[in-house]
Amino acid sequence: MASFSSASVAPNVAAEPWLRAEGSRQEELFALAHAERVRVFGDEVFVRGVVEVSNFCRQNCSYCGMRRDNRTLARYRIEADKLIEMLVHHRPASITDINIQAGEDPVAVREIVLPLVRAIREHTPLGVSVCLGTLSPREYAELHDAGASFYIIKLETGDAAHYRAMNSPGRDLAKRLQAIRNLAATGWAVSSGLIAGLPGQTDSMLAATLDLLAELPLAGNSVSPFIPGTEIPLSHEAAAAPELTLNCVALMRLRNPERIIPAVSAMNLVGKGTYAQAIRAGANLATINLTPAEWREDYLLYTRERFIMDEQRVLDAIDAAGCRPAARPLIARE
Ligand code: 5AD
Repeated sequence: MASFSSASVAPNVAAEPWLRAEGSRQEELFALAHAERVRVFGDEVFVRGVVEVSNFCRQNCSYCGMRRDNRTLARYRIEADKLIEMLVHHRPASITDINIQAGEDPVAVREIVLPLVRAIREHTPLGVSVCLGTLSPREYAELHDAGASFYIIKLETGDAAHYRAMNSPGRDLAKRLQAIRNLAATGWAVSSGLIAGLPGQTDSMLAATLDLLAELPLAGNSVSPFIPGTEIPLSHEAAAAPELTLNCVALMRLRNPERIIPAVSAMNLVGKGTYAQAIRAGANLATINLTPAEWREDYLLYTRERFIMDEQRVLDAIDAAGCRPAARPLIARE
């Protein structure tokens, strides 16, 4: 699709002076971002389902409840056939795409994700995104050949020392950046993003991360507010300010108007209405959680009490932002 150009369109918007914008300055920022969203995407917001197929993870990120050192977590892998049945026959009518997500778990890639992607492509019109961590070139190629087209691989922080201090994947930012570039060069639409308010993050670090994301060859961007999960080393730290998170959404939209930017469920945890506000501030993708209830609680990104975005909540938020659900997938299927 032509709109997925990797060019960074408005690098001239300096991020740092806007990160803490409030009141009328923030309204101005949102209005500009909203206008860019409307210019590129009209009033359409994409609706993607997500299934969290495995919570095994070989990484140990300090901010994440699924980190391998969290021994209190019951680990699961959902059978591919269960998910295929649900997605082929019982999915919500509004979704045009599915995101298959897991901890970094190559076993799940082989046993669950690959058969699931093939079945979705054969039996449904859905576009397929995956968020599976850093894998081998061969695993990426198998996923792409199976019919996945969007790879979600976040930076969380674009500062190399901070990345290492957070025990982020591989503890090596340069390798993560190389993985992003390799994925983009091998036919994937790539989405990356950051956590706003991650402990140890300064405003200049956050602004530099936004600059880095703007220049990478990406089709999508995301920002999650930091949530101090109950079972992580950072559990005593403060949650991100909703305003900071929303300002990042708007800045991402202004700098790369053509990118896909999600409203993420963690936004519900930092402030009432923050999720719908993210759409007003320039986000153009909403996610319906389709992980069967039996496993959902153990997909521990934040706390065990999750705020589950079901179809009605997603459609209400899109409506509250004056938008409507898109009827086409993120990337047109041939
Ligand atoms: N707060 C906010 N986002 C988090 N993630 C993981 N842990 C946290 C946290 N404590 C996000 C990261 C990760 C995604 C799966 O969840 O963005 O990539």
